[in-house]
Amino acid sequence: MPRNYTKSEKQELEKLTTQQQLQGYFKKDAPSKITKLAVLFLIFIAGLVTGLLSSSSHRSTLTLQNYNNLYAAVKRGQTITTSTSSSASLRNNDNSLNFDCKNIDNLVHPKELNHNLSDEELLWRASMVPKVVEYPFKRVPKVAFMFLTRGPLPLLPLWERFFKGYEQYYSIYVHTIPGFVLEVSPDSVFFGRQIPSKEVSWGNVSLADAEKRLLANALLDFSNERFVLLSESCIPIYNFQTVYKYLTESTHTFVESYDDPTRFGRGRYDRHMRPSIMIDQWRKGAQWFEINRALGIEIISDYKYYDLFRKYCHPPCFPDEHYIPTYLNIFHAPFNSNRTLTKVDWSLGGPHPTTFVRDNITEGFIQNIRNNKKKCLYNSKSTTVCYLFARKFAPSALEPLLDLSLKVMGF
Ligand SMILES: *[C@@H]1O[C@H](CO)[C@@H](O)[C@H](O)[C@H]1NC(C)=O
Ligand SMILES: *[C@@H]1O[C@H](CO)[C@@H](O)[C@H](O)[C@H]1NC(C)=O
Ligand SMILES: *[C@@H]1O[C@H](CO)[C@@H](O)[C@H](O)[C@H]1NC(C)=O
Ligand SMILES: *[C@@H]1O[C@H](CO)[C@@H](O)[C@H](O)[C@H]1NC(C)=O
Repeated sequence: MPRNYTKSEKQELEKLTTQQQLQGYFKKDAPSKITKLAVLFLIFIAGLVTGLLSSSSHRSTLTLQNYNNLYAAVKRGQTITTSTSSSASLRNNDNSLNFDCKNIDNLVHPKELNHNLSDEELLWRASMVPKVVEYPFKRVPKVAFMFLTRGPLPLLPLWERFFKGYEQYYSIYVHTIPGFVLEVSPDSVFFGRQIPSKEVSWGNVSLADAEKRLLANALLDFSNERFVLLSESCIPIYNFQTVYKYLTESTHTFVESYDDPTRFGRGRYDRHMRPSIMIDQWRKGAQWFEINRALGIEIISDYKYYDLFRKYCHPPCFPDEHYIPTYLNIFHAPFNSNRTLTKVDWSLGGPHPTTFVRDNITEGFIQNIRNNKKKCLYNSKSTTVCYLFARKFAPSALEPLLDLSLKVMGF
């Protein structure tokens, strides 16, 4: 099926095909170019004949490599003396013929997270999907743990312990404020895992931008299959094996998405979003999502719905609480569990959830988060394991958490 050109492509095509430019091309350039090409073509044929003749007699064969080098040289307008010596020297000098695909590993698991891509370039690159279904390498699905933080990660030692021994099964990405340097030792699993970051303001679309940036960077690694968004105050409440199995074997994504009829839900809807988003499609949910690769690609590729949030969702509307829950509800509802995996305590009311400190951390407290008798659905079956992560934990909670982690959380 022929593909439609985009608006900007059309403009470029129009520019190229205007009468004036075509005339200019033929009148000025064409004669000299054509003469030059003809001469080169003759030399090229002479080279081919020499090559063929010598190959039929002895050692030197006209390989595809020679042929390509000759052809490239002709295109660049170089003159060729003898086919064998010129192709040998071309191979050494010409970098334009080399591209860095010597190692599939560089291509599918970028080790270096630093890059100079703009957001637009990054999202475009990350949106690419291979057409061949089978991977030409052994793909072990990985979970991407994406930390959105202003700066330090005070609970990092707990996470280090959680990750230890499972290097093959996860990737870590950290979005900080620009210029912040995460000080970790080179043997830390967080070493070198900061992505190129930008300023984030609470309450506007720049927060959703940061989420997309994390997702896009994580998507560049083709082994990443599940993607969890976490903050610096989040902790894991099960061990790695349990978390990995729960996520990679799930048939659903975990994005909280519900219809809130009050002013904190539907009250934040803006009628300018019609007809793309109708009020009965409007959803709310916690920012801390867990999704799979296919959905991640959909989200970073969406500009249309995202733009509506950028334009019409301002405080008291928060894009990070409505954009993904609403987008999923419109397009991917059957695959979403509509619940979050990150337990948070809103019981005290107010605009922020409870922060737990040193004194709060007891065995009973952690057990209660792991299993508070609540039931939820996992792959359409009932389970008591509804949360894998919890927040918000103050830095002072680290020590008692480390003391309890093996006994209560199994790591
Ligand atoms: C990004 O650009 C800067 C300056 O142009 C350059 O020094 C740096 O090496 C580039 N980084 C990458 C990853 O290409
Ligand atoms: C977000 O808000 C900050 C300050 O309130 C502002 O400087 C910034 O430009 C805003 N960003 C976007 C993308 O609207
Ligand atoms: C999540 O909610 C949507 C409607 O918003 C529904 O279609 C979907 O089935 C729900 N998912 C589950 C697992 O119940
Ligand atoms: C947590 O500890 C603080 C200070 O010790 C206390 O005021 C608060 O009630 C505790 N919260 C819970 C949920 O135990």
